[in-house]
Amino acid sequence: MLIQSGIDFNIPFRVLDPDIHAPCSSLCEFHHGKLTDFNTVMKFGAECDIITIEIENVNTAALKELAKQGKKVFPQPDVIELIQDKRTQKIFFRDSGIPTADFILVENAEEVKRNKKFFPAVNKLGREGYDGRGVQILHTEADASKAFDAPGILEKRIDFDKEIAVIVARNLNGEVKTFPAVEMVFHPVQNLVEYLFAPAELSQTILDEADAIARKIIHDLGMVGLLAVEMFVTKEGKVLVNEIAPRPHNSGHQTIEANTTSQYEQHLRSILNLPLGDTSLLLPSAMVNLLGEPGYEGEAKYKGFEEVMKVEGVHVHLYGKRITKPFRKMGHVTIVDADVESLKKKANFVKQTLKIIA
Ligand SMILES: Nc1ncnc2c1ncn2[C@@H]1O[C@H](COP(=O)(O)OP(=O)(O)OP(=O)(O)O)[C@@H](O)[C@H]1O
Ligand SMILES: [Mg+2]
Repeated sequence: MLIQSGIDFNIPFRVLDPDIHAPCSSLCEFHHGKLTDFNTVMKFGAECDIITIEIENVNTAALKELAKQGKKVFPQPDVIELIQDKRTQKIFFRDSGIPTADFILVENAEEVKRNKKFFPAVNKLGREGYDGRGVQILHTEADASKAFDAPGILEKRIDFDKEIAVIVARNLNGEVKTFPAVEMVFHPVQNLVEYLFAPAELSQTILDEADAIARKIIHDLGMVGLLAVEMFVTKEGKVLVNEIAPRPHNSGHQTIEANTTSQYEQHLRSILNLPLGDTSLLLPSAMVNLLGEPGYEGEAKYKGFEEVMKVEGVHVHLYGKRITKPFRKMGHVTIVDADVESLKKKANFVKQTLKIIA
C-alpha cells in the first residue's frame, strides 16, 4: 500500500523482507533477508536514499550506523528503539506526563505471581509481541499461571468504554497533522482489530483530548514520520494511551478511500519533508480485517468475493499472501457510506460473507 502511494510521486522502492514470498516482492526491487541482522540491514541500506520501516522489529544498531553515515532514516532509530519495548514506551509515557494505565515492570512469571494484588491486570511481553500475541489478561488470581516468563509489564486492566486510535504525522520542518480519531472493535479472543469505524462516535471534548495527546507524543519524541496512537476511553470519559506504533497502521487503512490524503501518502510526505496533506474525512467508513478462517490452512481461496463486490461503497484489498492460516491477516475491506447505520450493516455483511478458506 505504501508502494501504491509512492508510484504517484515517481518513487522507486527497494524492500527488505524475511519472507521470500512477501506480497511486495514483484512490485519493487526486492531483497530477501532478516530485518534483525546487522550486516543485512547495513548492506541493504547502503543503496538507499531514504530508509523507513513498516515493522518495529528491525536492527536499530544498523539503522543508527546508516544515519551516522548520512542516510535519512525516518522514523529515527532511537524512536524505533524506544517503541520496540513496551517497557520503555510506558516509562516514556510516565516521564512525559502522558496519561496511561498504571503499571509495574516485571522480569518473569514469578514476579507477576508475587503481584496478584495488582489484578485484574494485563501482562504484556516487553519485546516482540504483536497482534495480541504477547498480551495476557489476568482477571483473577487463578489466571496467574498464564503469566509470561519473560521481561515485560503488568498493567492495570482498564474497564474501557471504547478503544480509539489517532494517527499523527510530523515532517522535518516540524509541521504536524492528525487524522480524525477512529474506533476499533477487537476480536474478543484473538485481541486483533476486527472492525474499525471512522469517525469515532465521541464527544468533541474527548476527541480534542485524544488529538492533543497524539500531537504531544510526536512532539515529545521529536519524531519524523507517521505515528499511530492507540488509546482507551474509560467509562468516565478519560483518555489513556495504550501503545504507539511509528508507521502506517491497521487503524489507518480506511484512509485510502475515506480521507483526502491516505496514511501512506502522509507517511511519504512526512519522511520526504513535503507539506503534509489534508486529512479530512470524505465519508464515514468502516474497515474489516480479512483474517484466515479458523480450521483452514493452505492455498488461500476467497469465498463470497463477488457477493461483497456487489455492495455499494465496498473496496476489497487482498494482500497477495499465498497461504492462509487461522487468524492470519490476509487483507482488509473498506466500506464507505454517508449513512452510519447502513455502514454498520454493510460491515457486518462483509464480515459474514467474505471468508478466507483453503
Ligand atoms: N490495560 C488494559 N486493559 C484492558 N484491555 C487491554 C489493556 N491492554 C491491552 N488490552 C487489550 O488487548 C489488546 C492488545 O493490546 P496491545 O495493543 O498492548 O497489544 P499488541 O499485541 O501490541 O496489539 P496490536 O499489535 O494488535 O496493536 C488491546 O487492544 C486491548 O483490547
Ligand atoms: Mg495494540
